[in-house]
Parts: sequence; C-alpha cells; structure tokens
Amino acid sequence: MDAPAIHDISASATATYGHRPVDPDKVDTSHGPILYLDDITVSFDGFKALNKLTLTIDRGELRCIIGPNGAGKTTMMDVITGKTRPDAGTAFFGQTFDLRRLPDTEIARLGIGRKFQKPTVFEQHTVFENLELAMKTDKRVRPTLLARLSAAQRDLIARTLKTIRLDGSESRLAGALSHGQKQWLEIGMLLVQEPELILLDEPVAGMTDAETERTAELILELAGSHSIMVVEHDMDFVNKIARKVTVLHEGSVLAEGPMNVVQNNERVIEVYLGR
Ligand SMILES: Nc1ncnc2c1ncn2[C@@H]1O[C@H](COP(=O)(O)OP(=O)(O)OP(=O)(O)O)[C@@H](O)[C@H]1O
Ligand SMILES: [Mg+2]
Repeated sequence: MDAPAIHDISASATATYGHRPVDPDKVDTSHGPILYLDDITVSFDGFKALNKLTLTIDRGELRCIIGPNGAGKTTMMDVITGKTRPDAGTAFFGQTFDLRRLPDTEIARLGIGRKFQKPTVFEQHTVFENLELAMKTDKRVRPTLLARLSAAQRDLIARTLKTIRLDGSESRLAGALSHGQKQWLEIGMLLVQEPELILLDEPVAGMTDAETERTAELILELAGSHSIMVVEHDMDFVNKIARKVTVLHEGSVLAEGPMNVVQNNERVIEVYLGR
C-alpha cells in the first residue's frame, strides 16, 4: 500500500459524522459489509478463544454482541483492531483493507475506533481539551498540537459535546466528571476522529441507571451515521438498543437475529441468559 496521504484537517472536519470527503483510503463498502470476519481462529496455548468465527456488519448497522464470560467477545475486538493476529481466517474492513495485514495504528487511522471498558481520559485537562487532544492526535492528520483550531474543528467539537451530553461542561476538568460522564467523554474522543466503525466494550459497566439510559439514547443517535458494535452484559440496556444481536459462545456464533428470537433460543438460555 502507498504511504498514507496527509489530509487537510480543516477539510476533514467540515464533514458530518460518517461522511468524510472523498479519500483514497476511505473504506469501500459499495459491494458488501463494512466488517467481514470469516472462519477466524485465535489460539492461546492451544485454547481456542475464537473458533471459526464468522460475522459480518453492514454499514450503518448497530450490532449487539452478547455471550458468557470468556466467549471471545473482547478477543474479537482485538482481532478487528489489529491487537491480536488470528491463526486462521479472513478479516476485512470494507472490500479492500485486510485487517490481518495492517498495523493497529493504520487500522485506527482508516476509521475503526475502539473504546475499552475503563475510561482513559486526561483527568488534569478540561473536557474541551480532551476532545481537542483526541482530534489532534488523529492518525489521519499532521500532528499540529500547537496550531489553533479551525472553525470546522470547533464546530465538530461543539456538535460532539452535544452528542455526548457534555455541552455546558466543556470547561470542567475531566477528573471531576462522574464515571458515566467520563465514559461519554471517551466516546466523544472517538467521535472527533470521525470513525466509520465504532467498537464499544461494555460501555455501561459501572454506570447508574440514569447514565445507562442516556448512553442507550446516545448510541441510538449514532447508529446509521456510524457502524457500531456493542458488547454488553447488561440485558436491560441491550434490550433498549438491540436490532440484530449476535450471541458468542466458546469462540463461535451460537445464535444471531432479533433480540426476541435470540432470547427465546434454547441454547442461548442454557449457556447464557438462563444463568
Ligand atoms: N492474551 C491471552 N492469553 C491467554 N488467554 C487469553 C488471552 N486473552 C484472552 N484469553 C482467553 O480467551 C478467552 C476469551 O476471552 P475474552 O476476553 O475474549 O472473553 P469475553 O467474551 O470478552 O469475556 P468477558 O465477558 O468476561 O469480558 C478467555 O478464556 C480468556 O481467558
Ligand atoms: Mg470481554
């Protein structure tokens, strides 16, 4: 692949979420899904954390992934983001980007954003500065930490603050936010990098009921303009946001479909929901 192009951040930031200007590195989904995993196997000392896992996500889809502890949910995200290399199988982002061959930094730059369970905001910086820093460490643009923000960048931050329910709190120190607000800020730090595909691993863990409710609304707002994969154990939350649900068990897909169908699947009840 050619050396990555240096994009003009002012141009990039004028775009609305999910609609960047034409870009040679843009993910191509004209003939298929945004994420394509086929027959993926990951072994740790002979133990198969993923075992012939096949799963595809369409552009704009909101997919919930559920399943018991150790089912391989986080490992799947590790494969998608290039953190773990599978022993076998196929993994593509759009039609052209082979996730098995790209370094993790390149995968992030191409538009896959991931949020880990534990928030990792910069506590000594304000909410606004956190978003600014995330934007300026965007792998797609020249590092310009000292440069002033363009109007388009300010606009993107302003829209993101609204999305993450922190408009009016931009001057607060991130360290003073509640746990839930920190999680939203971290989602915002992903959004200012305008990812195409967002991976959220247990986004509502540790949140209050009210925060969980607002996170569900937030994710529903992002769906459509983004492709989103959400891993969660909180079934009330999953029920609120679920469209298509995939159940992982022992490294493979056990069931897939609408929540009400998956919920009534005998094997799913046996291995997970009926616990
Ligand atoms: N680096 C590693 N080395 C060895 N084993 C690992 C490693 N990473 C994961 N595993 C094992 O792979 C299996 C799948 O783990 P994974 O973290 O993907 O599960 P999960 O579905 O995310 O579970 P949870 O719901 O508890 O987060 C587990 O048995 C885990 O112990
Ligand atoms: Mg996990």
